[in-house]
Amino acid sequence: MILITGATGAIGSQTARLLLERGEAVRSMTRDPSRSPGGEAVQADFEDPRSLRRAFEGVSAALLLTGFGGRLKEHDQAMIEAAGAAGVKKVVKLSAIGTGDSDDPGDARSWHVPGEEAIKASGIAWTMLRPAGFASNSLGWAAAVRSGGPIPNFTGDGVQPVIDPRDVAAVAVAALTTSAHDSRTYDLTGPDLLSVPAQVSILAKVLGRPLETVEIPIEAAKEQMLASGADPSLVAVAATGWTMLKEVGWPHLSDAVQSVLGRPATSYESWVRDHRAAFS
Ligand SMILES: NC(=O)c1ccc[n+]([C@@H]2O[C@H](COP(=O)([O-])OP(=O)(O)OC[C@H]3O[C@@H](n4cnc5c(N)ncnc54)[C@H](OP(=O)(O)O)[C@@H]3O)[C@@H](O)[C@H]2O)c1
Repeated sequence: MILITGATGAIGSQTARLLLERGEAVRSMTRDPSRSPGGEAVQADFEDPRSLRRAFEGVSAALLLTGFGGRLKEHDQAMIEAAGAAGVKKVVKLSAIGTGDSDDPGDARSWHVPGEEAIKASGIAWTMLRPAGFASNSLGWAAAVRSGGPIPNFTGDGVQPVIDPRDVAAVAVAALTTSAHDSRTYDLTGPDLLSVPAQVSILAKVLGRPLETVEIPIEAAKEQMLASGADPSLVAVAATGWTMLKEVGWPHLSDAVQSVLGRPATSYESWVRDHRAAFS
C-alpha cells in the first residue's frame, strides 16, 4: 500500500492518479475524503497524531507532503513519527528548490530543512524532491484572465524554471516504486527559465487573445494581503520570496526530470494547452 498525503493537492492528486493507472494499491489522505482523487480514501489531519497513525497503518511507502505554512516542521515531524511507528520502508518528501540556502525562519528556503533532516535520521529509506515553482500556480491568474483584467506581477523580470506538477508526480512515482532513487535529492525544474511576463505571453498565445500584466510593488502587495486578513508571518515569507525572485531570480535548470524519466521536462506551453479550459 502506498500512502499519498496531501492527496487533494497539486502534486498528491497527480501522484495518486499515476499510481492508480499503474495498478498500484493507493491510500489517499485528506481532511475531506469526499475530495479524494481515488484509491482508498483516509481522513487524517497533520495536527492529529492518532489520525496519522491510522493513515500510515499497513503502508509500505509514502509521499510526504506538507502544506505551505508556519507549521510545516511540526507536520513533517508528526508524519515521520507515524511512518516510523507503522514500519514504513520508504518515504518520498516533497520539499522545495533552494532548501538549505537560507537558515532564516522568515525565508521559505529554510522551511523544509528540519523535515529533510528528520527523515534522514529516521532510518527509513528516502528520496527528497525539490521542485521549482509549479506551472499550476498560474491558476491563481484565472479569474483575472477570464474578466479581462491585468495579471498582477510581483516579481518583475525575475525568472524561474517553472515545472509542470505532472512531472514532479511522475518522479515521485519512480521514487515510490523502485529503490533506484533511494538517498537521492533531486532539484526538479521545467525546461525553460520564465518570468511572469514570459508566462503570460505564452498564455496569451495559447488562448489567442492579448493579456496584460501589471507590476505591483512588493510593499503594496504586502499591504493588500494583510488587509485581506493573511497571517503576517506568511506575508513576510511571501515578500522575501518575491524580493529574491525579482532581484536575482532562480536562473538554474536541472536535468533530473530527464535523467529519472528518460524524457525531457514538460514545457509551460504544454501545461497551458492542457489547462486552457480553466482560463476560458
Ligand atoms: N506551489 C509551488 O510552486 C511549490 C514549489 C515548490 C515546492 N512546493 C511545496 O509543495 C508543498 C505543497 O504541495 P502542493 O502544492 O501539492 O499542495 P497544495 O496543492 O497546496 O495542497 C495542500 C495539500 O495539503 C493537504 N493539507 C493541508 N493541511 C492539512 C492538514 N492540516 N492535514 C492534512 N492534510 C492537509 C491538503 O489536503 P486537504 O485540504 O484535502 O485536507 C492538500 O491536499 C509545500 O510543502 C510547498 O513548500 C510548492
